[in-house]
Order: sequence, then structure tokens, then C-alpha cells
Amino acid sequence: MVRVLFVCLGNICRSPTAHGVFQKQVDDASLSELITVDSAGTAAWHEGKAPDPRSTSAAKRRGYDLSVLRARQATTDDFYQFDYVLAMDNSNLDNLMDIAPHDGKTRPVLFLPNYSQQFSEIEVPDPYYGGDEGFEHVLDLIEDAATGLLKEIRSTHSL
Ligand code: 4NP
Repeated sequence: MVRVLFVCLGNICRSPTAHGVFQKQVDDASLSELITVDSAGTAAWHEGKAPDPRSTSAAKRRGYDLSVLRARQATTDDFYQFDYVLAMDNSNLDNLMDIAPHDGKTRPVLFLPNYSQQFSEIEVPDPYYGGDEGFEHVLDLIEDAATGLLKEIRSTHSL
């Protein structure tokens, strides 16, 4: 089993979007028995809450269901469970580095520069305080990098 964790700040906008998009790609490739997907926030502010309705609606328009997801905080234990811990921005990455154990299965890395195929952005910008176009841009970036991630996992793990 390959385990993938997407991490942002609140776990209500960017990382649940990545979770829903990547889960659909995994399901469509009939790989859900082999790849598990989760998401978390570095902050605990929204623990237990559903994703931001603006993220849920934007995702729904593109065929992704975020409604079942609930926010949780990333923990040190995640580094013993997950093979990929993917940060949405540099601040999330710094926060993850602070809790990553030295003997974990993996280290956190930035999602976009490692897996994006068509975009040169380094960070998935936080859409929380902006308008609807921010949520669309988040989806554009994430759909592209999720495609790159699935390709990479299929090739590395011979799936
Ligand atoms: P996310 O966005 O990290 O993509 O989930 C945010 C959600 C909430 C807050 C900030 C960013 N907040 O300040 O509550």
C-alpha cells in the first residue's frame, strides 16, 4: 500500500481539494486498493469541520466530492504512516519539518515543484481570504500536480 498525505494550514481549502482530486484519479485508475489518500492541516483551528463551502462547490463543478472530508491536524505519527507528505506552501513545509521525526518513513516536500507538469508555481496560494477565482486556480494547480504524482507513484511502485 502506498500512502499519500496532503497538508495545508487549515485543512479546509487546499489539502482537502488535493485529497478529493487525487482520490478521484486513483479511483478512476482502479488503484484505490493500492493507494490511500488523506489530508491534514498544520493548525488545529478547523478540526472536525467539513471543507470550506467555496472549495466544495468549486470542486463539485469539476466532478470531485469533498463533502465527506473532515479536517484534522497533522501529527508526528503521520511520518511513520505515510510514504508521501506533500506541503502546499513553504510555511506548511516549515511547520511539517518542525514535527517530522528523524526516523520517520519520509520527509515532507513541496507538492508543486516536485510533481507539477505544466505550471512553474512553487506554492499553492492560500485562497481563504480571496475571491472565487482563487479556488479555481487552486484546482488548476492541483489537478496538474496530482496527475504528475500519480504517474510518479505508478512508475516508482510499478502499479
Ligand atoms: P487552507 O486555507 O490552509 O488551504 O485550508 C486556510 C483555511 C483557514 C485559514 C487559513 C487558511 N484560517 O485562517 O482560518
